Amino acid sequence: MNITVAENYSQMSKKAAEVVEQVILDNSSAVLGLATGTTPIGLYKELISDFKRGKISFKNVKAVNLDEYIGLPKTHVQSYAFFMKSVFFDHIDIDPSNTSIPDGMAENLDAECARYTRLLKGMKRDMQLLGLGSNGHIGFNEPGTPFDSTTYVVNLTSATISDNSRLFGSIEEVPKKAITMGISEIMSAGKILMLASGRNKADAVYSMINGRISEECPASVLQRHPDVTVILGRDAASLL
Ligand code: F6R
Repeated sequence: MNITVAENYSQMSKKAAEVVEQVILDNSSAVLGLATGTTPIGLYKELISDFKRGKISFKNVKAVNLDEYIGLPKTHVQSYAFFMKSVFFDHIDIDPSNTSIPDGMAENLDAECARYTRLLKGMKRDMQLLGLGSNGHIGFNEPGTPFDSTTYVVNLTSATISDNSRLFGSIEEVPKKAITMGISEIMSAGKILMLASGRNKADAVYSMINGRISEECPASVLQRHPDVTVILGRDAASLL
């Protein structure tokens, strides 16, 4: 693992943008696995600003997201489809038909998981961006998820529901289920870019990097990936 500790959130986001931009400079038709959440917002802002300055183009880039809540329509402000459009895609030159996210409103969720698994098999991701759950989750792969998992419907843990309730009116409004890319699919990306900031991530960061590789800390599986870049804020790195 290549680990960098940034001075602050802004530096973390700038360094992350350099990594993503290098992937696109190496391959203008790169396939990027993307994440939502609070952590990558600064990275997306940097990429938008570099796009507007003409430094980078997403014209031929394909994007495939990690996960989506079940039961939130794409128009719901907390759906990940809405997040990706409003925070990133609407501000760059990516072709909307080159973006994919699981459909959390699908009538047949098993069929939707199978569709996403097929999609991922047919698309070699150059890079997968990840954030880290305070319980060590990656995507929505909660502690205990088998490392050989492919896209599936997950029951979110109470820790994740509580963490994410900050973005909803109340904890009752947080969906209890999501569709997530599985751990084996995350691991099949050519490169992993993991970002974490905030003191509440410090324990999970420690377990991811220094802990035993165990399904109890899903992120610890990254120790087995040959090309992982971890960029941390100071607080998140405080136990290393
Ligand atoms: C988001 C995702 C999650 C988040 C993680 C951290 O698509 O898959 O694993 O990356 O929950 O979330 P934030 O960045 O909000 O702390």
